[in-house]
Amino acid sequence: MTREPQLILRRIGEENEIPYDLLLLADPSKAAIETYLRKSQVFIAEKNKEIIGAIVLCPLTETSAEIKNIAVKPAFQGKGIGKLMIQQILTIAKEKGYQSLCIGTANASIAQLYIYQKLGFEISEIKRNFFIDNYAEPIYENGIQVKHMIVLRRGL
Ligand code: ACO
Repeated sequence: MTREPQLILRRIGEENEIPYDLLLLADPSKAAIETYLRKSQVFIAEKNKEIIGAIVLCPLTETSAEIKNIAVKPAFQGKGIGKLMIQQILTIAKEKGYQSLCIGTANASIAQLYIYQKLGFEISEIKRNFFIDNYAEPIYENGIQVKHMIVLRRGL
């Protein structure tokens, strides 16, 4: 596997276009994305001026924030970029004064549950039927129906 050792996240401002193509890979609801983008900061990872990753940080309280969305362009997945992006956002969130970070994923998102736990996040809550109650269409991943949101948390 080719690794991407150099990767620096850059926060994008209101003058920049939101990389919806990437954000929609992680969250199929544009309406949901637009709701949390209003209060979030969007960071991107670039390679040769091409946006290859995006990660969205949303404050929850004065001491905690949530990674609302993380996505890597399909051609660049599996090269360690997602892991590097999370490691960098942990540093950024700590520098902002947050003491903990959480991230939610679906019961069927096996790879994501693996990555987040390998990076020190631990399951803290299960929002039962979250995806059934909040999304219009049934969603399947890995042949499993996406029903519940698994919330994972990590201290900083
Ligand atoms: N199955 C099994 N293991 C996997 C998979 C997979 N599909 N993908 C990655 N891994 C493993 C890697 O082998 C690696 O393991 P290691 O640390 O033991 O070597 C580890 O997970 C990290 O892999 P990365 O290469 O850093 O992952 P990647 O760059 O592909 O980023 C991400 C992961 C963000 C989930 C990416 O695959 C993606 O964009 N997927 C589509 C969108 C998505 O599902 N986003 C998350 C939704 S939840 C949310 O946004 C809060």
